[in-house]
Amino acid sequence: MSDANVLAAPLAPPPPHNGQVHGKDHDGTYLRNWNPLMLAEDLPEGKIVGVNFLGTRVIVYRGADGKPVVQSAYCPHVGADLSEGCLVDGAVRCAYHHWRFGPSGDCVEIPGEELIPSAVRIHPYPAAERWGLIWAFNGKEATFGLPEFPNLSEDEVYYKAHHRGLRPLEGWISSSNLVDFQHLKTVHNIPDPNPVSVDFGDDVVVVRQESNVRIADTQLFGCTWLAAHLQLAGGIERLFMAGSSQVAPGWSDAYFVVAMRKSQADEMGKEAADAELEKRVDYILKLYAEDEPILMSLRFRGFQKSTLIRGDKYFGQFLQYVEKYPRSAPFDV
Ligand code: FES
Ligand SMILES: [Fe+2]
Repeated sequence: MSDANVLAAPLAPPPPHNGQVHGKDHDGTYLRNWNPLMLAEDLPEGKIVGVNFLGTRVIVYRGADGKPVVQSAYCPHVGADLSEGCLVDGAVRCAYHHWRFGPSGDCVEIPGEELIPSAVRIHPYPAAERWGLIWAFNGKEATFGLPEFPNLSEDEVYYKAHHRGLRPLEGWISSSNLVDFQHLKTVHNIPDPNPVSVDFGDDVVVVRQESNVRIADTQLFGCTWLAAHLQLAGGIERLFMAGSSQVAPGWSDAYFVVAMRKSQADEMGKEAADAELEKRVDYILKLYAEDEPILMSLRFRGFQKSTLIRGDKYFGQFLQYVEKYPRSAPFDV
């Protein structure tokens, strides 16, 4: 995807309608879920990347085993941003006074000091690499697994991740599109979009839609990450994921994944499969282009102050689901 499609917005104060939680002032907590922080291909060994996350900042790098590490970014000494530092013997060295922190967050060196107080540490977030993305969980421990496609396991899928960009929009407002079945018709012109089942699980919402033109299985993980498997007429399949990380009140950074069956990709050969996936990017960009002008200017005032009708049954249930969904505060506040 060309970078022209990435919304490059500076992190500025959010518009008042979006920085709130369900019509109330933001309380510094965020949904307890997995968040895509960056494209895995942008994280080579040895590099430290700073990412705005949960109203604060984290650093992301690869540990000695190549697995991603995500930690709070501000040095406990006097608050230097550790993404300005570098990796020395597998530990992050602060650029300012060279204190060093290991992957567990413990301080392993203070130059000239023999005794390191155990309280001197930075905070690790559960982290993982999957679907071409680096993920962090907002919470001490991940309380559920990384997103999956419905009906297919990871080794059955050939995929490519893309960065959509930073948006002045709560990620869950964007994801509420999944159960806003009216908008599928009015905004996206999808015929007969009503569901046959919508199940609100603890961490995943599972939706099935069936019509004579398509069967759609979709799962929404942690209120902000959607994975879809569409079966269209003529045996055509569409697989994609889309969602965002919680950057700050009223701001989300959006990513998406386009995918196809691995057996089909193997048959076509890598070049043709990559070209096919690139074509499918256009469909996702079309959905974004249709939704974003509406969502980014929407004034959501909470479930209680919305006027919902019978056709909004699942949309309304989702708004209440999000309101009750567990939340966590970042570790460094
Ligand atoms: S601010 Fe990091 S070592 Fe001083
Ligand atoms: Fe939409």
